[in-house]
Amino acid sequence: MKVKNTDNINNSLRYLQQKKAVFDENKKDKFIIEGLGGKKKLNGKIAVAGAKNAALPALSASILFRNGFCVSNIPNIKDIDSMNILLEKLGAIVKKQAEKKYHIVTDEIKSVALDIEISKKMRGSIILTGVLLARFGKVSFPHPGGCIIGARPIDAFLNSFQKMGAKVQNRNGKYVVSVGKNKKLKGAKIFFNKITVTGTETLMLAGILAKGRTVIENAALEPEIKHLADFLNSCGAKIRGAGTSTIEIIGGNLLSAGNRAYKIPPDRIEAGSFLILGALSADNLEITDCDPKHMRALINILKDSGVPIIEEKNKIIIKDNGKIKNKHLKCIDIKTHEYPGFPTDLQSLMAIYLTQISGESLLFETIFEGRLNYTDDLINMGANIIMIDTHRIMIKGPTQLKGRELIGNDLRAEFAFFIATIVAKGKSVINNVRYIDRGYERIEERLSGIGVNIQRIKG
Ligand code: EPZ
Repeated sequence: MKVKNTDNINNSLRYLQQKKAVFDENKKDKFIIEGLGGKKKLNGKIAVAGAKNAALPALSASILFRNGFCVSNIPNIKDIDSMNILLEKLGAIVKKQAEKKYHIVTDEIKSVALDIEISKKMRGSIILTGVLLARFGKVSFPHPGGCIIGARPIDAFLNSFQKMGAKVQNRNGKYVVSVGKNKKLKGAKIFFNKITVTGTETLMLAGILAKGRTVIENAALEPEIKHLADFLNSCGAKIRGAGTSTIEIIGGNLLSAGNRAYKIPPDRIEAGSFLILGALSADNLEITDCDPKHMRALINILKDSGVPIIEEKNKIIIKDNGKIKNKHLKCIDIKTHEYPGFPTDLQSLMAIYLTQISGESLLFETIFEGRLNYTDDLINMGANIIMIDTHRIMIKGPTQLKGRELIGNDLRAEFAFFIATIVAKGKSVINNVRYIDRGYERIEERLSGIGVNIQRIKG
């Protein structure tokens, strides 16, 4: 479908102005939350949005298409606005076709320089580097920013680009990666020393336009990776093994979507966030539009601990939970692991759970060295936590949490504070909110819908 240029350009400029304003406006918002004092009063239904960490690689994949590409079930969150602004600043035309549905045309792209200000704030921006390098032979970008959960190096990306024949330079704080005049990125055999989710996505997408065969070994197994690869194969890509630790890509030409649209899969981390909240504070809660089969690690741990969970095809139900006292739930140890192990993104949320059950639990964050930075705030609320080292804490429960003033350090730790303040006794304030809106759409509206007493105070 050829997209008319004129109205699209106005559309996209307007989109850019609107979204830039949103991007800056509410970084100083705060939330006031009235705690339930350990009671299980939440009830009702909450629907899960499309996955942030599936939408970011999907939007990046638009660079691989001629004549545009449609994506639906996109979550209404700030990271998506940022990604769309990054694409528009490169010269792509991003048209919002309907609620949560975008059409992106990248045939007019003129720039290969990622916007510094935005890329420095969002790790997901790095996924664009592989497709820009593969299509245009060059890309420049800053070290990507994002949640402060560790050093978050990008050696796997830069080493892989070099293996594919590109030259990597670091010029005044920017990486400039190029394959040289009239040359193309070449397929290569890549082994990731550390399993990297965005690394796997970036190199899988780059391999689609590289010359020859690319093999990625020790690849990430996240279900979103296979979900996207299956769609790209239906548009002409040749990807085998996505969702396993070895992915083979045979490079070819630009893809063509025809009238196919890519539907973003449900956000298993958002679903898990609501499930942990429900386990501690809900009587009857239905979490809809989700896929329990991609949440095995969390569901099994909560069931083993004694949470009454029923699974159906696209929903998870917590039933008659009100009569179960959290202090009677069985003690469990948590060790994060790459998918399908326990997700690091739910680690801080489970720490709240461990403060409410009886016994001593070891929580071991194996993936990021800086992802336990929320513990001081929890201790300040009354939790009994001992820091063993930068990767391990011992949590002794149950403890009554008291309402406090808090500031979040990363997206998931901010949601963990939502859970802690809802479980706590008394009022809490979560200040300087700058992360939650990046990953959870309309969060106060949806939490109020199941009975949370929460108010956003605009900054
Ligand atoms: C993705 O981050 C997610 N972000 C993260 O979610 C998630 O926590 C993480 O995967 C792990 O599941 C997006 O998908 C946008 P990694 P990513 O590369 O890809 C090391 C959220 O809240 N590493 O899998 O950046 C790295 O230091 C976010 O939604 C290298 O050493 O994570 C870490 O120890 C937070 N060199 C490990 O690998 C590299 O070049 C895993 O990181 C790259 C990574």
